[in-house]
Amino acid sequence: MSEKPLVRFDIEDGIGVITIDNPPVNALGPGVSDGIIAAVEQGENDPRVKAMVLMGAGRSFIAGADIRQFGKPRPTPARRSYDVIDQTSKPIVAAIHGFALGGGLEHALACHYRIAVPSAKVGLPEVLIGILPGGGGTQRLPRLIGPKAAMELIVSGRHVPAPEAKQLGIIDELVEGTDLRREAISYAQRIADRRPLPRVRDMNDKIAQAQADPGMFEAMRKSIARKARNQQAPYHCIAAVEASTREPFEEGLKTERRLFGELENADEAKALRYAFFAEREVTKIPGQSKDMVIPEIKTAAVIGAGTMGGGIAMSFADFGFPVKILDVTPEAVEKGMQRIRDNYAISVKRGSLKQEEMEKRLPRIQAVDSFEAIADCDVVVEAVFEEMSVKKPVFAKLDAVMKPGALLLTNSSALDIDEIATVTKRPEAVAGAHFFSPANVMKLLEVVVGEKSAPSTIAGAMKMGRSIGKISAYAGNTDGFVANRSRAPFNTEMVLMVEEGALPEQVDKVMVDFGYPMGPFAVGDLAGLDIGAASRRRRAAADPNYRKLPIPDRLVELGRYGQKTGAGWYRYEKGDRTPHPDPAVKRIIEEVAQQMGIQQRAFTDEEILRRLLFASVNEACKILEEGKALRASDVDVMWLHGFGFPRYRGGLFFWADQIGPKEVYRQIEEWHQRYGARWKPADLLQRLAERGGSFREATAEVAG
Ligand code: 3HC
Repeated sequence: MSEKPLVRFDIEDGIGVITIDNPPVNALGPGVSDGIIAAVEQGENDPRVKAMVLMGAGRSFIAGADIRQFGKPRPTPARRSYDVIDQTSKPIVAAIHGFALGGGLEHALACHYRIAVPSAKVGLPEVLIGILPGGGGTQRLPRLIGPKAAMELIVSGRHVPAPEAKQLGIIDELVEGTDLRREAISYAQRIADRRPLPRVRDMNDKIAQAQADPGMFEAMRKSIARKARNQQAPYHCIAAVEASTREPFEEGLKTERRLFGELENADEAKALRYAFFAEREVTKIPGQSKDMVIPEIKTAAVIGAGTMGGGIAMSFADFGFPVKILDVTPEAVEKGMQRIRDNYAISVKRGSLKQEEMEKRLPRIQAVDSFEAIADCDVVVEAVFEEMSVKKPVFAKLDAVMKPGALLLTNSSALDIDEIATVTKRPEAVAGAHFFSPANVMKLLEVVVGEKSAPSTIAGAMKMGRSIGKISAYAGNTDGFVANRSRAPFNTEMVLMVEEGALPEQVDKVMVDFGYPMGPFAVGDLAGLDIGAASRRRRAAADPNYRKLPIPDRLVELGRYGQKTGAGWYRYEKGDRTPHPDPAVKRIIEEVAQQMGIQQRAFTDEEILRRLLFASVNEACKILEEGKALRASDVDVMWLHGFGFPRYRGGLFFWADQIGPKEVYRQIEEWHQRYGARWKPADLLQRLAERGGSFREATAEVAG
């Protein structure tokens, strides 16, 4: 059987149509660029062909270079398809649908005309995988739309909707109608005889912008300084665009290639590529039958109109789903609705949401006053008070009223899903849907599997998450599930280090320097210290050996709940969220440490970082070996999207792999000797240290 060609060429009405057919997204994998070159040459040499069209089969134009090839040795091509397209004597029209990203858009920029369907998206997102556009994008885009706009697109990596791309001048024409091929052929016929060919490389008018605004590159560097700290790619992107304004086209291409070469194998790019694929792996649940019918979600309900419930309702509304919200009293629902209105209004005020958009979203959320009113919803997410005695009656009621086939999900962050399911006659329909706070912002959704949850329930909950913009990750039903359980030792160690002499501001600085947007103590103040204190009280009551944390307990006793009371680990000025180190806290720490008989000492930054993250690596190893997470990379995705772990460090395990299991084990064993049982190394960690291998490969080892 002959293999389907990756690139097809056929002639219709005098137009040579080049079609890339490399599913699923027409990435420029091995053979595709050569196929494009061959097709362009065929069109060039065939006298019947007046002009050509470049388009993609299936769901997209071209999603870019094949990311799997990066970091591997590749032969330098004798000719690049971009140059061959650019240099033809016959015009080529890029006809875009789906995505034209990275090398995809760069091919379109090398074409002489670009048309697109309105739903298409274009962009140069290379920076998001730690590189820069290496197919001429940093030199052509500034010539086409001006260096400032080009820099904004390249440094942000954002996907630009076709209508905006038209306004910017990336797209020449938007085509209506359903037959893009037909439209492209008639467009190509219209421009077939126009000469000279509009080659982007020759367009130098807009480059002059840079002369008029010489500070633009420096201003851009300054504006990204905080977000892009520790990263190289965003700065290289700026440098490459800057080169387009200073160097002739061919020289600029050389600069682009040199800068690209500096990035491709750097740790940053490796980590970001890993994160890209980890986010796609996390959606896959092994062993699921292809024929399984996944429940379709069109309508949703949320029980509990508190902060979490409100955020969950907003998540549905934000993605177009009608959602009903219920609480015990009409006043409670109204209070929740008011909070939702306020949250949207704040977004409008800040400029992150358009007024019209808010007006579309708000009516999708409907306050209701009875369980009967939600009975026909496809999914219900319970977000009531985190107490088994409160949740169980809710599930009994849901079981009584909800239509057959509805998904019954709990947003519990710690309670046993199986116990919740016992009060229903349909435990197969029950699972956890653990959102992270604020629920409408944080992208992680842990889908927690109960013993009796049906595979279709899990698949339905995972799909629901994706349809409301979340990254759904499968988690076993273990105390704290996967994300919070792996994070818990970090939360304890940060306080224990303070008992031993580190200051909150030192710990926070180490973690911000590492790449977190905020330090963990500042985050604690934001969330409210009373919440942690209450949960510690509950745990201490249940477990006589529970290690209390007297310092935060003392802060809470003193009414220092965090930002909301103007003081917590830090002090705050009225109306300002900036944390200020507080000598009063230092005194409290010293007093408590003295009462506990702990000798305070100095900490190095390295020790702080390792103690926090190794504690979690060890716990995450235990979670993996218990089979509560499917893959090491799933844990990494949870840390990226649940806890703000810096993406350019890949994730908890990816980061630990750079240090190596052997060294992680050595350090943990040393602390085990010094601090006792809480640092007992996980068996998996010990095995990896002794036998070699990486944390990431450990998944297969555990599964196999
Ligand atoms: N290379 C290799 N594989 C890719 C790919 C790429 N550029 N883009 C997508 N894929 C794969 C995914 O891994 C996934 O594989 P799987 O089914 O085995 O898990 C499959 O294609 C489908 O992808 P998604 O699940 O992400 O599909 P969506 O429809 O949700 O999203 C997309 C489509 C927006 C195109 C998204 O896949 C995406 O953002 N892709 C990457 C785009 C990108 O970064 N392009 C630039 C590449 S670098 C470059 O071009 C360098 C150049 O300058 C020289």
